[in-house]
Amino acid sequence: MCGIVGYLGKRRAYDILIQGLHRLEYRGYDSSGVAMIAEDGELNIYKSKGKVEALEHYAQNKDLSGAVGIAHTRWATHGEPNDINAHPHFSQSRNLALVHNGTIENYTVLKEALIRHGYEFISETDTEVAVHLIEYIMHKNNCSLFDAVKEATKRIIGAYAIAVIDRNNPDQIIAARQSSPLVIGVGDGEFFLASDATPIIEYTNKVVYLNDGEIAVINRGKELKVYDSKSTSESEIHITELQMSIEELEKGGYPHFMLKEIFEQPRTLADCISGRISADGKSVVLSGVVEHKEKFLGANRIIIVACGTSWHAALIGKQLIEDFCRIPVEVEYASEFRYRNPVVTDKDVLIALSQSGETADTLAALELAKSHGAFVFGICNVIGSSIPRATHSGCYIHVGPEIGVASTKAFTGQVTVLAMMALLIGQMKGLVSEETLQTVASDIRRIPTLIKDIFKLNDKIQDLAKIFTYAHNFLYLGRGYNYPSALEGALKLKEISYIHAEGYPAAEMKHGTIALIDNDMPSVVIAIKDKVYEKTINNIQQVKARGGKVVAIITEGDTIVSEMADYVLEVPQISECLTPLLTAIPLQLLAYYIAVNKGRNVDQPRNLAKSVTVE
Ligand code: G6P
Repeated sequence: MCGIVGYLGKRRAYDILIQGLHRLEYRGYDSSGVAMIAEDGELNIYKSKGKVEALEHYAQNKDLSGAVGIAHTRWATHGEPNDINAHPHFSQSRNLALVHNGTIENYTVLKEALIRHGYEFISETDTEVAVHLIEYIMHKNNCSLFDAVKEATKRIIGAYAIAVIDRNNPDQIIAARQSSPLVIGVGDGEFFLASDATPIIEYTNKVVYLNDGEIAVINRGKELKVYDSKSTSESEIHITELQMSIEELEKGGYPHFMLKEIFEQPRTLADCISGRISADGKSVVLSGVVEHKEKFLGANRIIIVACGTSWHAALIGKQLIEDFCRIPVEVEYASEFRYRNPVVTDKDVLIALSQSGETADTLAALELAKSHGAFVFGICNVIGSSIPRATHSGCYIHVGPEIGVASTKAFTGQVTVLAMMALLIGQMKGLVSEETLQTVASDIRRIPTLIKDIFKLNDKIQDLAKIFTYAHNFLYLGRGYNYPSALEGALKLKEISYIHAEGYPAAEMKHGTIALIDNDMPSVVIAIKDKVYEKTINNIQQVKARGGKVVAIITEGDTIVSEMADYVLEVPQISECLTPLLTAIPLQLLAYYIAVNKGRNVDQPRNLAKSVTVE
C-alpha cells in the first residue's frame, strides 16, 4: 500500500522516479508525486491526484533537473486523495521533503506537540508529522539529517518506510524502515530505493533489503551505510543478487497484466513444481518442510493465516492437509487472529500465506504466533519480502511478479504448493501410500498442460461475458474443494467489475440466499464430478426451479449437468483435490471479460491495492 522510490546518482532523477512509480502503481494509485533537488539548488515538488500519468502531465514544462529525488504513489489512508495530501510532504522551511509508506499511529499526539512548537500543517495526512518532526529535531539539536531521522524513529509509533532529502545536501538520501518494506539498489556510482525491487531491476540486480529498525545513509560517491536505529552500531550489509527479469514486469503484448498473468499459469505452475516433484511422480521435495520435519510431524494442529485471495487458497490448503495428513487445520483471517486472544502453543505450526509477503495483518499474525512459541512457516511469492524474512522456514511459490491487483497466478501457485506440502507431510507421517502419492503428484505435473487445454474456452467465455455484463448480482456456488473456488470466483468478479457477487457453499444456499434467486440473478455453479456431484445437481435444480440462470463448470463429457444448466464450461478430469486449480481458470477469465466489457480498469481497480501494508 503506497509505493516509494528514490534515486541518487548521475542521471536525471525524474525519469527514474517516474518509471519506478509506474512499476509500483499497483501498490496504490490515488495520487503521486516527486521531489527533486534541481541543478539550481531548488527543491522542486510536483504532486497530482490520480495516476502517475496525471503527474507526468502536470510536470510537463516544469524544471525536472536534478540527479537526486524521491517519489511516491499513494493509497489513501489518512485524508482524501487530493493534491495536498499527496506525497512528498515538505517541512516548514521547505528544505526537507519526505515520502512515507505505512501509518503513523501516534500522529495526533506528535501533531499537537509540533503545533505547540509553531509548526503549521497543511495536509490531513499522518505523514506530515514525520517531516516536521525531523526538521524540529534538526533545529533543536542542531544535528544532521541522519541524527534527526534516528531520533524521530524513536518517537514515531507505527509502520513506516521513509525517504528524506534535504535541499541543503543534494548528495544524500536518508531512509528508514519499520514494518514497511524498503529495498536499496546499488549501481555503479548510483543508488536506487524502492518499496520492492521492481523499479530497480532494470538498472542493477544488486540489492540490499533493509531490516526493521534500520536507517540507510546514501551518500553520493560513497558506500552505502546502514545503521541500527536503536544503537550506534553499523549493520553489516548483505547484497542480494536478483534473479528477476525485466520482461516479467512488462505486459508482453497483452492488453492487461491480469490477462497476461492468467495465460502465464501453465508456465508459472511448471516453475512452481520444478525440482519439487520427481519425474516419475514418486516423491515430493520441499526443503523448507523436510528440514523441519519434526515440527510438522509433531504438530497438534496447523493454523493458516492469510487475507483476500490467499485466504481462499488457505481454505483449499486446509482440506488438502486434513485429507492427506490428518492434522487439524484452522484457517484464520490474519486481521481477526491478531486482535483476538488466540490459543497458540509451541505444538502449533502457523503458516503465513501471502503473495506479496508484506501484508501487515499477516505479518502481525505470524509475529503473534511466534511469540507464543509456534513454529512459523511462510508461503510467499515475493522473494526477500518481509514474511519470508520473519518466518522460521518456508517455501516460495515461484510464479514471478504478479502486477495485476486481482490475484490469479499467485492463487494457483499457492494451491499447488499447499498440495505438494500436504502430500509430503502425509507421506512423512506414513498416511499417504506410494500409489496415492504417485497418482496425485503425477496429476500435479499434468496441471500446466491441462490449463493450456482450458484456454480453448477463451472465446466461449468471452461470448458468455457479453451475456452477463449487465447483471447486477451474481451468486457463485461450490462445495467441498470447490467451495473456496466459489468464494474466489465471486471475489474476482467483485474486485474488477464492481458487480456484487456472493460466493456460497451450494447446500447452504437454501438457508437464506435462495430468496435472492430470480431471473436477474445468475448463478455460477462449480459442478464437477466429485464426491458431492449428485448433491450439487440438486442445488442446480433448486436454482433452476426459481427461474435462475445457471452457468456450470463441469467435468469434460458430463451430459447430465449440460442438459440442466443454461451454459456450461468443461474442465478436464483430475484428482478431486486438484480440481480448484482447473476451475479457477474459467472463473478468472469470466471475471476478466465482464470487467473489460464494463470498461473497468482491470489492473488497477478502484479503491484497491495489491500490497496492503497498512491495517
Ligand atoms: C490485497 C490484494 C489481494 C490479495 C490480498 C492479500 O487485498 O488486492 O489480491 O489477495 O491483498 O495479499 P497477500 O499479498 O498477502 O497475498
